[in-house]
Amino acid sequence: MATNSYKFREKYGQWALVTGASAGIGLEFARGLAREGMSVVLTARREDRLNHLAAELKQQHGAETRVVAADLAVPEGADRLADAVADLPIAFLVNNAGFGYAGRFDKLATDRLRAMVIVNCLAPVVLTSRILPAMVQRGRGAVVIVGSVAGRQPLPLHAVYSATKGFDLLLGEALWAEFRGTGIDAIVVEPGPTQTEFQAVAGENVGPNHGEPAENIVRVTFDALGKQPSVVSGWFNWVRANATRLAPRSTVAIIAKKVIEGQTPVELR
Ligand SMILES: NC(=O)c1ccc[n+]([C@@H]2O[C@H](COP(=O)([O-])OP(=O)(O)OC[C@H]3O[C@@H](n4cnc5c(N)ncnc54)[C@H](OP(=O)(O)O)[C@@H]3O)[C@@H](O)[C@H]2O)c1
Repeated sequence: MATNSYKFREKYGQWALVTGASAGIGLEFARGLAREGMSVVLTARREDRLNHLAAELKQQHGAETRVVAADLAVPEGADRLADAVADLPIAFLVNNAGFGYAGRFDKLATDRLRAMVIVNCLAPVVLTSRILPAMVQRGRGAVVIVGSVAGRQPLPLHAVYSATKGFDLLLGEALWAEFRGTGIDAIVVEPGPTQTEFQAVAGENVGPNHGEPAENIVRVTFDALGKQPSVVSGWFNWVRANATRLAPRSTVAIIAKKVIEGQTPVELR
């Protein structure tokens, strides 16, 4: 990790909160922040995994943690989470929890699509809205939103997912500009395919080692925080993210459909 020792704790404050800390990118954010000497609120639905991670962070970094089991797919989930940490001065918020759901729109379950919009879009809005005002009062803080290269273009067979990530990108970049110069750093990190449970949860036909290691996403975020509104991990993902600069969106959508078709179970195409 290319960060200086305790740089973030000194700059932003003691407590971080990571949503989706039970797996993948969120788990690596929690590890990275604990390495920075930060105390970390670990939240997701799978409490056993969070407790396991809390023990690891204590043992390896002496990190103080609080485990909060919360389901962000219910409309009041983010408020309940904010209530559970209202006594802590959260200085570094990582809006990471999210999921995809692959398939042709008419073949997908309405409830799961609704849950995706709530987790990927509503939760970051509510959580940031509940936590950011105190950062502003303290004159310092950091807000990370985990977007995706999928948020830069229409992604057939992942239509709602790419729309949610487009929402996250615009939300985070606007926050970056609103709070620039106030001591609050906002950033959107846009991973491409990353080795996590994402693909299995989304129902994609790709193995668990598809993409880059989750630690990379944390490193590029930490390196770019405070310097720019958003960051894409790696040059190849940068090309993916900027495909609509090279070709019309309609062409990009048609090419993307061919690629995603290969990763989507036949019955859902
Ligand atoms: N992996 C990729 O290829 C990739 C690429 C671009 C962007 N991303 C983004 O990266 C972020 C993290 O995903 P990941 O790749 O690390 O996937 P992951 O390994 O599946 O982890 C997803 C995390 O989100 C949590 N989560 C899901 N639904 C939730 C709910 N209803 N309530 C609370 N927490 C919930 C999960 O915890 P529980 O299941 O325990 O609740 C888990 O900790 C997501 O926003 C995703 O869109 C991933």
